[in-house]
Amino acid sequence: MKQPGNCQLKVIVNREQIAEAVARIASEIARDYQKKQPLLICVLKGSFIFMADLVRQLKLDVETDFIQLASYHSAKESSGKVTVTQDLQKSITGRDVLVIEDIVDTGLTISFLLNHLKKKKPASLKLCALTEKPSRRRVPVSIDYLGFTLPNKFIVGYGLDLDEKYRCLPEIYSVEE
Ligand code: IMP
Repeated sequence: MKQPGNCQLKVIVNREQIAEAVARIASEIARDYQKKQPLLICVLKGSFIFMADLVRQLKLDVETDFIQLASYHSAKESSGKVTVTQDLQKSITGRDVLVIEDIVDTGLTISFLLNHLKKKKPASLKLCALTEKPSRRRVPVSIDYLGFTLPNKFIVGYGLDLDEKYRCLPEIYSVEE
């Protein structure tokens, strides 16, 4: 497997495309949650940049919370085992909850999280994902707000990492073998 230091990166989504997608998603969310005060849950760490950009575009009174999951035990392959490593601070019972995720790949991580949150009886539960790779899906996932559908390539940047590298790059890149 390639080491992060030796990888070749190719821009697949540029800054303008990201900004347009964030603005579009923010207006879709604002339209759907008029007169509500949704709780946006950022799935750490990959979603922190997307979440930060999104909340600043949202013309809506929102609250935020953060959760961290461990699901990716090798550099590029999902183990299928998911655990909560840092839990929410707020109660979500009776709240309109919107989960903000960086990428839906096999779908195992987000399915686990949505089931975990459903048990806490939110008033509503929706999913916003910056990216998805549908060709890799192993369990069905319904995405309510989506930025980009991507080919089956490992991606980094704009929050997404490869072994903790490349998260802070401002664009989305594919890792070329
Ligand atoms: P899934 O359970 O296979 O859907 O994977 C979800 C998690 O794996 C994401 O939240 C990411 O942390 C990580 N992941 C999946 N694909 C990629 C990728 O292409 N680049 C970076 N992280 C990824």
